[in-house]
Amino acid sequence: MNHGCPEDVTDAMLREKVRPILNRVDNLPTLPPVVTRILTLVEDPKATGQQVAEAVSMDQAMVASILKIVNSPFDGLNRRISSISHAILLLGFRTIRNMALSATLLNTFGGPGQTKRFDRGLFWRHSIGCATTARLLAKRLRLVDPEEAFLAGLIHDMGRIVFDHYFSVEFAKLLDRGEGAEGELLLAERETFGIDHGEVGRLMAQRWNFPTGVTEAIGCHHDPVRAKQSPQLCALIHVADELSHQLQMKEGPDPLPRGPFDSTIGERIGLTDELVGSLQTELEAEMEKAEVFLNLLH
Ligand SMILES: [Fe+2]
Ligand SMILES: [Fe+2]
Repeated sequence: MNHGCPEDVTDAMLREKVRPILNRVDNLPTLPPVVTRILTLVEDPKATGQQVAEAVSMDQAMVASILKIVNSPFDGLNRRISSISHAILLLGFRTIRNMALSATLLNTFGGPGQTKRFDRGLFWRHSIGCATTARLLAKRLRLVDPEEAFLAGLIHDMGRIVFDHYFSVEFAKLLDRGEGAEGELLLAERETFGIDHGEVGRLMAQRWNFPTGVTEAIGCHHDPVRAKQSPQLCALIHVADELSHQLQMKEGPDPLPRGPFDSTIGERIGLTDELVGSLQTELEAEMEKAEVFLNLLH
């Protein structure tokens, strides 16, 4: 089966079809220097808290966004934090990286979308929901780093932003046509663009130098059995994706396009229905706290 992965693209016609997307991804805005610097420092075992604090402090808007999140109930610190170095000390590098990235992505891609049927507000609610769910599941299952899970969850569907932003006519047609059977939309994406949104997200994550495990989890989130480097993270995102759609449906209709869901994946990482059931209340509470990210949109 062809997954539309650029690595698999040997067919000349397919390569031709994918080229406009690849060009677009190549020309995506680069992340602000402050975020790039934080991403590098987080992966450097010799980096110090002071270096991270100095990097963040180069951008005062970023400092303000991070302090806003830190002082919300999201991390439950229950005390007022007024400096970035204090926040780093209490929360760690990875949490600060995720806050910086969330603020940047919401800022850059949070505006109204191009495609009427693709609601950006709902898109971000779903992305934050998936990130929060993935973080909670990671904490419970202790299989993967909760902050890597948050990051992968946040970005997992970003490929659709590229479709919406730069190929809105084709994307609108695809959404009209694809409603119905699960997985149909993913196939329609491959047919239209030669590549699906997971793989586009993988390319974006590569371009932005995200950790390799996170990058793979984004690429394979609808087909986690393909994952080689981070199968557990990928399985976790697969499940968190579905759970956040279910959570959304409790609040009202969920018009966002969904991908195929394999109900056997949860078992592979030790996720039972009982555990999911027992996490419901906590999940809803976490989601409410995560509203602070959505407030960054305004
Ligand atoms: Fe997806
Ligand atoms: Fe999703």
